[in-house]
Amino acid sequence: MSQTLVPVIAIDGPTASGKGTVAQRVADKLGFHYLDSGSLYRLTALAAQQRGVDLANGPEVAQIAASMKIAFRGGKTLLDGNDVGNEIRTESASQNASRVAALPEVREALLSLQRGFRLPPGLVADGRDMGSVVFPDAVLKVFLTASADARADRRTKQLKEKGMSAIMSDVVKELRARDERDMSRPVAPLKHYPDAYLLDTTGISAVDAVQKILTWAQKSVGS
Ligand code: DC
Repeated sequence: MSQTLVPVIAIDGPTASGKGTVAQRVADKLGFHYLDSGSLYRLTALAAQQRGVDLANGPEVAQIAASMKIAFRGGKTLLDGNDVGNEIRTESASQNASRVAALPEVREALLSLQRGFRLPPGLVADGRDMGSVVFPDAVLKVFLTASADARADRRTKQLKEKGMSAIMSDVVKELRARDERDMSRPVAPLKHYPDAYLLDTTGISAVDAVQKILTWAQKSVGS
């Protein structure tokens, strides 16, 4: 199958909207591959930091993005062979990811890496620009969101489950700062484009959100 014929379901949205959980489950149900594109920005920021590169230096960070040795294996996220799954999920790692994600050179460098995940029988990709930039020909585009309070609540729980300390008011502040940066950057800003279905998960469970997307997918993917 030519790569461009492999169906892609693009799920974009702000932080802690539930897109990670939902996208992963949709991929499992359909037997599709899954791309968590945010992890690539997180890995880039971590790799740059480890090499002592200034996170504002676009060309140098982009070079790291293009050459870093990463792998996703058995639920682990590896950088240079080391499991960095927890390290890339801290609040400071989130802010650093958002910073390097605002650099056009870095976004460009990660394009082909992301498109490489498009493999038969299909791909569910989650991020901020999956439907707008990386996979504009996606067969289904969803913009997943939730109220700021619901997202902060989810994020606080996630951090606590991982044994990380989290104060709700700090989480709200950090979430707003990241939303603001992700939405206002000139390149590939986070935005609900009219060709994406809007799904607000504030009052609904992950199970219901998955079901809704599967119903849309049946129409567009035909599975
Ligand atoms: O989805 P996430 O929270 O893991 O993403 C981390 C950061 O990476 C987020 O603040 C913005 C950036 N990002 C992006 O700019 N484009 C994507 N497709 C995915 C993430």
